[in-house]
Amino acid sequence: MRKSLLSRIPTALLLLAVALLLSSCGWSLWDSPMTTVRPKSGFGRMTHEIFMLISWWTLGIGIVVEAALLWVCFHFREKPGQPIPKQVHGHTVLEVSWTIAFAVILLIFAIPTIRVIFATQAAPPETALRVDVGGRQWWWEFKYPDLKVVTANELHLPAGQTVAFNLHAPDVIHSFWMPQLGGKRDVVPGRVNRLTLAPDEPGEYPGQCAEYCGMSHANMRFRVIVHSTADFAKWVAAQQGPPVQPADPLAQKGQELFAQSACVGCHTITGVSGGVLGPNLTHFGSRKSMGANLMANTTENVARWIENPGHMKPGVLMPDLGMRGEQPKALAAYLLSLK
Ligand code: CUA
Repeated sequence: MRKSLLSRIPTALLLLAVALLLSSCGWSLWDSPMTTVRPKSGFGRMTHEIFMLISWWTLGIGIVVEAALLWVCFHFREKPGQPIPKQVHGHTVLEVSWTIAFAVILLIFAIPTIRVIFATQAAPPETALRVDVGGRQWWWEFKYPDLKVVTANELHLPAGQTVAFNLHAPDVIHSFWMPQLGGKRDVVPGRVNRLTLAPDEPGEYPGQCAEYCGMSHANMRFRVIVHSTADFAKWVAAQQGPPVQPADPLAQKGQELFAQSACVGCHTITGVSGGVLGPNLTHFGSRKSMGANLMANTTENVARWIENPGHMKPGVLMPDLGMRGEQPKALAAYLLSLK
């Protein structure tokens, strides 16, 4: 009795592990913001349908194969006093039929898959909103060439409108991925890849670089904010405007400091500086997050970033400019005033 109870412990532990694994898979599949199984665009739905088709077919195949295996194990098990069974080698009919059966199943998968590949590679309509995406170590630049808007790490889109992304990378290979909206698509130096999709409804969706691109690859995130058409027009109008002139004395001090320091070599603030190596900061204060969607855009975080960028994001290309004491706080106050 004692022995049989003990012998059941490994089985019980295995069942517990499977239950935990299934529940965590369930969580990440359905409730995680990085989910791909709750698509929010036509592109996302097309790829999700292929995923589900293949999942159900393979589940069915798995059940049939396991049932056949169990039946064979039970039916042909060794019985007491049984002589050695007839020894055989090969079974042409069986081998040919399972080869054909699996070729047919692969064909069934291939037809809708190829259809979706062509559908998602189609040229965008003339009316599509163009967005040029720059994947850089380790942040994202979003340019709207027709609207004359440039932003970073926060991608604003209008719901229901087709968007044509042109993806390019000035440094290394990245991958542009917005799990709920669709993707991934590689961003490759020396060529322009395209992605066309229309987000369904307003909301916020996380994005992430999905191709290892160096030290802070995992920190190369972005945020997609899908607006109603009217709200998107408001956002565009605000972004097209000039930067705010700071009223607060600390922010004014920050503005002077910015204009006199090496900041201007890398960052654009319309009317103040024209650097293009780092993110455009003209409306930095309007962003919810900073450091490629790493942390909240607060005075404290911005000041800590300026004081020691490498501490906030390992490998970051922005150097420590030696700003200490009041200086990072003044710069942070200035940057956050740029609504
Ligand atoms: Cu960019 Cu990983």
